[in-house]
Amino acid sequence: SEEQPPVADLPKVELHLHHEGAAPPALIRQLAHEKKIDLRGIFKPDGSYDFRDFTHFLSIYEAASSVLTGPEEFRRLTWAILEQSAENGVVYSETFLSPDFCGGGDVAAWRDYLAAIRDAADAAEAKLGITLRGIVTCVRHFGPDQAKRAARCAAETAGDWIVGFGMGGNEGVGKQGDFGWSFDCAREAGLRLTTHAGEFGGPDSVRDAVRLLGVERIGHGVRAIEDADLVHELADRGITLEVCPGSNVVLGLYPSFAAHPIARLRDAGVRVTVSTDDPPFFHTTMRREYEMLAKAFGWGAEDFADLNATALSAAFCDEDTRSRVA
Ligand code: ADE
Ligand code: ZN
Repeated sequence: SEEQPPVADLPKVELHLHHEGAAPPALIRQLAHEKKIDLRGIFKPDGSYDFRDFTHFLSIYEAASSVLTGPEEFRRLTWAILEQSAENGVVYSETFLSPDFCGGGDVAAWRDYLAAIRDAADAAEAKLGITLRGIVTCVRHFGPDQAKRAARCAAETAGDWIVGFGMGGNEGVGKQGDFGWSFDCAREAGLRLTTHAGEFGGPDSVRDAVRLLGVERIGHGVRAIEDADLVHELADRGITLEVCPGSNVVLGLYPSFAAHPIARLRDAGVRVTVSTDDPPFFHTTMRREYEMLAKAFGWGAEDFADLNATALSAAFCDEDTRSRVA
């Protein structure tokens, strides 16, 4: 049982990871202890994060993030995340960074957080051989005005490290189109675009993401499977889905990996990739995602090599970085 199937050892490209959502519970507990903040309510007796459903998950996520009070905390967090990812064979990763949790949307404060994050990422690249890039992310349930502040932070720091702009949060609140100003602002700054859609929203949310926001990637997107025309449209347009099967199973979208639509979407010609979303929350790692997919669908080394090639080609980094990683 100690022996891993060979697919889990492959070098991996991960496109969908939330920085705060990747925080090891031990780090959050340690920071809470240092700051004398009482966070006992967010942990189960076994030390893992405790939540009932998606909206409760979002509130536990925000409570955990409350101990990440400054750039130094984000430096420690970044190092911890990259250590974990490197252990799981990840060689290139894109992480969602929210100015909302990094200075509240103030551009000067955001720059300080970003400098600390990049410092840790540079150290991890040198010591662990993993490359990280950032996608600035607004939080949907914080509303369109707060999203504009995130977009301005993104535009001010757009470049070879902040490579994209996106949106997470509660898909049940508002509409994709409410955030058009922010996505336009980011696009004009040269950033590539992705948004969460088709996770807790249905096919219309995915259609709006593509048609109204003009994104080239979609976070999750899996509920497109409920609309055959939309599946064809995604395949035709070459939209890449950042699929997080373990996250979807824990949050109750599908009862098991075997019931997950990732294989059907792939067979229909949609560009699919695999990520963990918020690994400690969902008791997963990139290694485990690969193992579970191999078991559920009989995927082998060639299938995973294909998924990784898709992910690398959909990565938002520049060509130099892409060819260094490949
Ligand atoms: N933020 C962190 N994880 C998320 C998810 N799975 N969906 C939406 N927003 C999120
Ligand atoms: Zn996500």
